[in-house]
Amino acid sequence: MAYYSIQGIPLTTLAKQFGTPLYVYNADKIREKISVLRSAFDDISLSIKYACKANTNVSILKLMLAEGVDLDVVSPQELELGLLAGYRGDQITFTPSGVEFEEIEFAVSKGAMVNLDNLSVLEKFGQQYGSSVPCLLRIKPHVFGGGNAKIMTAHPESKFGISIHQKAEILALVNQYQIKVIGLHQHTGSDIKDGKTFEQAASALFEFAKDFPDLELMDLGGGFKVPYSPEDPGVNMQEIGQIMGNAFLKFCSHYGKELKLWVEPGKFLVSEAGTLLTTATVVKRDPIKTFVGINSGLNHLIRPMMYGSYHYIFNASNEEDIQQDAYRVVGNICETDTFSFDFEGNQNERILNEVKEGDTIAFANAGAYGFTMASHYNSRFLPAEVLVDQSEAKLIRKRDTLEDLVRNQIF
Ligand code: LLP
Repeated sequence: MAYYSIQGIPLTTLAKQFGTPLYVYNADKIREKISVLRSAFDDISLSIKYACKANTNVSILKLMLAEGVDLDVVSPQELELGLLAGYRGDQITFTPSGVEFEEIEFAVSKGAMVNLDNLSVLEKFGQQYGSSVPCLLRIKPHVFGGGNAKIMTAHPESKFGISIHQKAEILALVNQYQIKVIGLHQHTGSDIKDGKTFEQAASALFEFAKDFPDLELMDLGGGFKVPYSPEDPGVNMQEIGQIMGNAFLKFCSHYGKELKLWVEPGKFLVSEAGTLLTTATVVKRDPIKTFVGINSGLNHLIRPMMYGSYHYIFNASNEEDIQQDAYRVVGNICETDTFSFDFEGNQNERILNEVKEGDTIAFANAGAYGFTMASHYNSRFLPAEVLVDQSEAKLIRKRDTLEDLVRNQIF
């Protein structure tokens, strides 16, 4: 799984040229994933709505736009970034969670499609817009799916969406205000690889849809699992496409209309395209363990500490595997700050090719929820970001400076 270059440019060259910590994205990988997704649904009228919370760098958004991929956003700020990237409002869907009504009004004013996730907002929407602005409804299908409890979004106790058991209340509001519901949406969770889960959630939504006569589309969300290691193959997109696609076509024929199918992947499109490059600052040979300390931490890639997530780690400065060793890879933040979790979410050691201080330590699968979840904790700077396209590496975000830390502070 280790790779030592991106489009022919060695990772060590990128680390030297741009410094570390550095997020590097491979544009070709993103394009490849888009085409895998499209071909999995090739008999269907499919729209891809990239869930850009995974990675909102404007250069990545521009790439998505150029590839014909629309956007799913969850905040007015993501919406604005989409517009800055060149999207039209009507190519953007706003899928927020429990926000104030002003955010909905803002999205409508920009021409975005809104996806409503609670009855109170549905009522306000009806009062304000009646049938003049179409909308989607986010339904919670009461289905369990997702890589860990923190990223499951459709189970009965989840805060997301309107419960599938509240159809009567929904219909009462829709009828009272003549609300034009043109689509139903569900998103089960993240890191799902099992076709059955997608099928279960989709069929629940299809069953629910029968009482909504104005539908033009069904949005089945994202959550397609990516492979985090060689033993962890990720989702079989072709198979998922068939399962979801067949169920969708069957639904359309019962519904009596050919609808559009929307999917909303984040990770699937960008995770594997991203690598976090760091530098080994210290190799600490403790009597019990050997630690590799790096010049990054949970402030730059929080997924291991937050979810116990596995990220494949390798020594990009040493391709020879003759002197491998077990290392506990740790960050420089004043917290436990471990990167080397195993699949059960326990801290452990990783076998790396011998690490010397100064080596470039790389983290795979860092393109989704890496930079976007980064923070200034410990008052350290955010990493720079680079996009490699057509074998050229371009800086797409400068490294922070002290000014970024004090911007907006009044002292
Ligand atoms: N659609 C909706 C409504 C969502 O809430 C999400 C993710 C997606 C689509 C995209 O899911 P994806 O395809 O990326 O799995 N920070 C966590 C993941 C949180 C996902 C939140 N919602 C992580 O790093 O694993």
